[in-house]
Amino acid sequence: MTPSYTIIASYGAGNRVIGADNKLPWKIPSDLKYFKQVTKKAVLVMGHNTWRSLKCKALPGRKHVVIASDASSVEIAEKDKANVIAVMTVEVALMRAEQWAIEIDQPIIYIIGGGKIYEKTLHLASGMILTEVANPKDEHGQYEFDGDVFFPEIGDDWISAEDTASKKAGEPEYTVRMYIRPDKLKQMLPFHELPSLSEFVIPAPEVDSGL
Ligand SMILES: NC(=O)c1ccc[n+]([C@@H]2O[C@H](COP(=O)([O-])OP(=O)(O)OC[C@H]3O[C@@H](n4cnc5c(N)ncnc54)[C@H](OP(=O)(O)O)[C@@H]3O)[C@@H](O)[C@H]2O)c1
Repeated sequence: MTPSYTIIASYGAGNRVIGADNKLPWKIPSDLKYFKQVTKKAVLVMGHNTWRSLKCKALPGRKHVVIASDASSVEIAEKDKANVIAVMTVEVALMRAEQWAIEIDQPIIYIIGGGKIYEKTLHLASGMILTEVANPKDEHGQYEFDGDVFFPEIGDDWISAEDTASKKAGEPEYTVRMYIRPDKLKQMLPFHELPSLSEFVIPAPEVDSGL
């Protein structure tokens, strides 16, 4: 079985922002928990800045392939060395990720960002799990969430397979969409095995209109 690539990202509606000052532009704990549950036990591919945004610490239970222009500059704690490797090209990253995924019997490799790595790998992904964060403009036309890194435009060869809207009290609203690209599928993506978003989101209480 050859593993497939799925991109997982959250982006702001309207401007497609994904990052600001090497952080996420928003705080959405329920979406982070969803990310954790979806990617648990999987192999993750990421760029050096995204690794830095994780404070150079491995995420529990997962394998990490970090792409950097100089692999020796990637900070990896001694305790993480079995679960993190740094490589210097996208091609080598994919090769190592596939080897790892086969070894640990994981059918999906997740590409977790950031902007540069999404751009370089979008053409080979067969699936995407995209969280679109509501991003209204203020009276000056400024988006609520803005930043310096953006998610690439996607082509019309992608089919949206599922769509779940969520709202937890105190969090921005968001919609999770699963996408597939049939011509790239090496096998059916086991999206049906993904956890339901409702496990992570307690709906906001209905506002009583008083009517
Ligand atoms: N919203 C989301 O879902 C999401 C997900 C992930 C990240 N983010 C955000 O996105 C931002 C980071 O994105 P980014 O585009 O700045 O960085 P990135 O894609 O994480 O990493 C870019 C770095 O990776 C290395 N790299 C990239 N392509 C390479 C290649 N072909 N060969 C060798 N090295 C290569 C270079 O590192 P060096 O030259 O430094 O070695 C480059 O500066 C942060 O704000 C982060 O919080 C958001």
